[in-house]
Amino acid sequence: MQTHEIRDRFTQHFVDAGHEAVPSASLILDDPTLLFVNAGMVPFKPYFLGQQTPPFENGTATSIQKCVRTLDIEEVGVTTRHNTFFQMAGNFSFGQYFKEGAIKHAWNLLTGSLEDGGFGMDPERLWVTVYLDDDEAAEIWEKTIGVPKERIQRLGMEDNFWSMGIPGPCGPCSEIYYDRGPEYGNEGGPAADDNRYMEIWNLVFMESIRGEGDKKGGFEIVGELPKKNIDTGMGVERVACILQGVENVYETDLLRPVIDAAEKLTGTTYKDDEHDNAVRFRVIADHSRTGMMIMLDGVTPSNEGRGYILRRLLRRIVRSARLLGATGGVLETFMNTIMDTMTPSYPEIAESRERILRVAINEERAFLKTLESGTQRFDVAAAAVKSEGENVLSGEQAFELHDTYGFPIDLTLEMARESGLDVDMEAFDREMNEQRSRAKADNKAKKHGAADESVYREWVDNNPTDFVGYSELELDSNVIGLVRDGEKVNEAVAGDEVEVILDATPMYAESGGQLGDRGRLVIGDTILNVNDVQKIGKKLYVHKATVQNGGLDLGSTVHAEVDEKWRHGARQAHTATHLIHAALRQVLGPTAVQAGSLNKPGYLRFDFNYTEQLSEAQLDEITTIANQAVDADFDVNTIETTLDKAKSMGALALFGENYGNDVRVVEIGGPFSVELCGGTHVTHSSQIGPIAVLGESSVGSGARRIEAYSGMDSFRYYSKEAALASGLAAELKTPTEQLPERIAALTEKLKAAEKEITALHQAQLLANTGDLVNQAEDINDFKVIAVELPEGTPASDLRTIAQDLRGRIQDRPGVVVVASQADGKVPFAVSANKAAVEKGIKSGDLVKTFGGYVDGRGGGKPDLAQGSGADAAGLQEAFRAVKDQIADK
Ligand code: ALA
Repeated sequence: MQTHEIRDRFTQHFVDAGHEAVPSASLILDDPTLLFVNAGMVPFKPYFLGQQTPPFENGTATSIQKCVRTLDIEEVGVTTRHNTFFQMAGNFSFGQYFKEGAIKHAWNLLTGSLEDGGFGMDPERLWVTVYLDDDEAAEIWEKTIGVPKERIQRLGMEDNFWSMGIPGPCGPCSEIYYDRGPEYGNEGGPAADDNRYMEIWNLVFMESIRGEGDKKGGFEIVGELPKKNIDTGMGVERVACILQGVENVYETDLLRPVIDAAEKLTGTTYKDDEHDNAVRFRVIADHSRTGMMIMLDGVTPSNEGRGYILRRLLRRIVRSARLLGATGGVLETFMNTIMDTMTPSYPEIAESRERILRVAINEERAFLKTLESGTQRFDVAAAAVKSEGENVLSGEQAFELHDTYGFPIDLTLEMARESGLDVDMEAFDREMNEQRSRAKADNKAKKHGAADESVYREWVDNNPTDFVGYSELELDSNVIGLVRDGEKVNEAVAGDEVEVILDATPMYAESGGQLGDRGRLVIGDTILNVNDVQKIGKKLYVHKATVQNGGLDLGSTVHAEVDEKWRHGARQAHTATHLIHAALRQVLGPTAVQAGSLNKPGYLRFDFNYTEQLSEAQLDEITTIANQAVDADFDVNTIETTLDKAKSMGALALFGENYGNDVRVVEIGGPFSVELCGGTHVTHSSQIGPIAVLGESSVGSGARRIEAYSGMDSFRYYSKEAALASGLAAELKTPTEQLPERIAALTEKLKAAEKEITALHQAQLLANTGDLVNQAEDINDFKVIAVELPEGTPASDLRTIAQDLRGRIQDRPGVVVVASQADGKVPFAVSANKAAVEKGIKSGDLVKTFGGYVDGRGGGKPDLAQGSGADAAGLQEAFRAVKDQIADK
């Protein structure tokens, strides 16, 4: 059974049972605690917590959610069932059916006949586990379903109690396993062998809220959810593996074509018994899909967070393919193959195909370069280790290769092995652990912030804020909540920093890139300055304010006023952002996808996925188109509509944004710009005033940023630039328009003068050294000049002098040894003419000898070598030793 059929049967089964089918959310949700959506229930979290009412008719839903888990990345291809991307098919009940309902639904679908829409699995092959003391679930399995007691096993917290791994909703769970048969491992059920018995479905009886801690150390249950819920997750790829009768999840209809393509490209055959190679093939298949799916949701490679994960995945593909024998680029083929197999389930891939290919190919190119420079770096390090007679590459060097050059450790290990070296893995692991703990500390800090939101829960649930700020800038409204330092309070007095919750507000809360409004709350003599407005959940507005004078009680009515000047500037900047976006797409094409934006009075920045630097001409064109749109005085219309209608209008949506069904569209000049947006805007484009683009820059690989001023700030910027230019023109006594040529000419002149100074310096240097020839001594057949030059003579001059003097000894084998004291160091150089080299002089050896007396090192070729030491006390001895060495020739 093809994977897409498995998906369809799943959805149909639950829709028939009254569930609302909900499309998969983006892999990237606005949740600071998660890099990627990693379970089907993530988009439903607010419904479990009771923060929002589920909008589903029967209080039940079903989805097939895209998930990414990269914690087990090392397991990919090694076990038979670890995918970094997978599809979790789930059914959810929000306070409706509970354990019995969930168990029956799952059993009926798995064992139901093919004709009846089921998966037709043999019930004899199914095993189940339940949480230690969950007698209720065990009894349903045994008495209601009829699973024999010996196939019901009880497991502890680690296996049968599910949470997101962080504080939040949780509960005991019951898992269903499929026995693949004795050829896959030992008897004894899932408790004994989780390879033979493959977990296919997890039913979570979501009823509690957990606190900090992890599974192993345990965590505390800090509360009960308002209702008893069901959250389940069936692994679509695992069920496909079983129903298609293939060995592992990498060989199903969706991934096997990538393995086939890899065979062709590398010339190596995929065989199960060649373990290392088999793992590489599976890594290629798994990572190609994960990489593609996260690029589809807007991630581009970078050095942190999601972008880093993508980078790692793509690099592992390239590296695995090379180890299998590929020599050129591979990602284009793999991406095309995986996009072909995934498009039937994810038709939106079609419009992103070109963008995904471009990002992947660019990243591959960069990595191949990294491989080259990292290899060079490795060679230098390896040579240094060997020249010291050692055979272990230090952990620090391996870590540097990994961290700075993006060089995977397995590659370092392999290359070390090839050059007969070991790697100090203990030290490497230590470095890695330190890095990991730094990362963990960061994460913890983030989670804490999110956990604190519980103080707002009551208002989020019961009193979402009524926002009237699209049409009103002031309003009388009631203070329904006060929060100070994370705690609810009943009053605030002068000097307090306090968060004010109102039943209704004209003030815009930060979202969609637009910063929160500034404004005031006034009651009698009491004035609070609002410094920021933030949203909790989607609908609660929190005003962060300072009590200027007087005091404020819970329950009072205040007059809330938006700072009109602020709002005017914010509107200008936000509408300008839309114009820049539209202009950008006209110039760069639709693959320049928005990745984020920020706007506040007078300023905006706009990030977009694009892998090349923009040219001056492109920037100029973007600026012109945006300002022409201002000049055209377009109407700016806002339209409230449904997501489907908005899409059919061609509205642009931001990747990763979770839009509800009711959306707001901002349309500027008909088709010129149509975007989903909840922000505040001017009503005619001319109200923006000029838009001054400051420039563009890179923000991590694959993303670029345009920054611009709007309104009066643009004017001020231009007028400052003009003043600067006329100041320079006056200074250089040139008309403004000739400044570029004038400066270019000056720079040329400066360069020529510098060249001349260098030449003069050399001439002077050498003029003074002529005398030194007279100090030459005869040592056997050699003429030897061995002198200490004046203090302060730098190493570069020593070299020039040594070469010059060597040239002045023409008739005989000649050797020059010069040294000085400069900047607390003792530089030295040795040169030998051709005749001396022929007689066996090696300048490199002589500088080594010299270095031995001045606590230094050096090296070079037979005719020229140099070095540097630290101890001037040995200088005379050094000269003597070198002369002795020459005398021995
Ligand atoms: N949320 C449950 C899981 O991820 C179903 O396993």
